[in-house]
Amino acid sequence: MINEQSKVLVVDDEVGPREALRMILRDDYQVFTAEGGRQALEHIAREDFDMVIVDIRMPDINGIDLLEKIKLESPETEVAIITAYASVETATSALRLGALDYLIKPFDVISVKKIVEKDVKRRRERRELRQKLNKLKVDNDLLRGEIEKAYENIQLHYLETVNSLTAAIDAKDSYTKGHQERVARLAFSLGKALNLSEKDLDLLKQAALLHDIGKIGLSEYILNKKEPLSEDELNATRQHPLIGAKIISPVRSLQEVLPIILHHHERYDGKGYPFGLEAKDIPLSARISAVADSVDAMLSDRPYSKAKTIEQVNKELYCCRGTQFDPEIVDVTLKIGLQNLLRA
Ligand SMILES: [Fe+2]
Repeated sequence: MINEQSKVLVVDDEVGPREALRMILRDDYQVFTAEGGRQALEHIAREDFDMVIVDIRMPDINGIDLLEKIKLESPETEVAIITAYASVETATSALRLGALDYLIKPFDVISVKKIVEKDVKRRRERRELRQKLNKLKVDNDLLRGEIEKAYENIQLHYLETVNSLTAAIDAKDSYTKGHQERVARLAFSLGKALNLSEKDLDLLKQAALLHDIGKIGLSEYILNKKEPLSEDELNATRQHPLIGAKIISPVRSLQEVLPIILHHHERYDGKGYPFGLEAKDIPLSARISAVADSVDAMLSDRPYSKAKTIEQVNKELYCCRGTQFDPEIVDVTLKIGLQNLLRA
């Protein structure tokens, strides 16, 4: 039997059927009665009923209209219709509006009890299911928040590691000390001159700061070698954009800088590495980084060469216009002047 706390509302303008139902159900439920639709709605506004039994014909609001209002107000409440006859039309309207059962006058005690018990049970089960779902949703939200937080922490720690690796490269390669910062500054000025968006400028700067991160995988011997590199050593050096991209790949916030790191040694004529991409197939920011990277390398003392003057660098840029470098970027660089770009 259903818990006696379950509440049932009987709505009928005729005292006979109303009282009959109350008598049948009162041992098992808290039974409330209403003499019409309006009074029923007042009850429903105050109490949470498991089930409402509604007479189809009432003077103030008819049963079908009342059923519609109840379903609007409290969609989970079970509603059964009282009718003297089970017409197809009434059944269709009632079903469409969410009533699943009929109580046919005159009432048969056993079938009334059975229907009410079934409907109240259904309402209970639905309410329990909803509570479980709500709890699940809260647990799920909490869990998602915790996972998100943990993930952000991992990302942050990884980023810190990447930054300390950048510092480690500087320490490892005495000739390139400060190279990444200088490349970042020059790439940023060039990007600005080429009208890159704020977002792209920010990405370019981040990428330039990390562009040689893959050099962490190279030996100090190769990094500092004064003599020309052997074929094997050259091949090892050419792996650094790929190693860099691999180091960066787990960091979600660096996904957009990854292509710049990967392609900063591609050449405009397709003779670069690691993929031999050509012209506009190379991302613009990678083309800009390539120019900034080479300019800084030329202006610095290297194990194998002395620093060049600005004039020599200008000449070199012009010579490699359209071969190593994007001609448009070279033109902009020469037009503004390296000194101005380096000062910006
Ligand atoms: Fe590089």
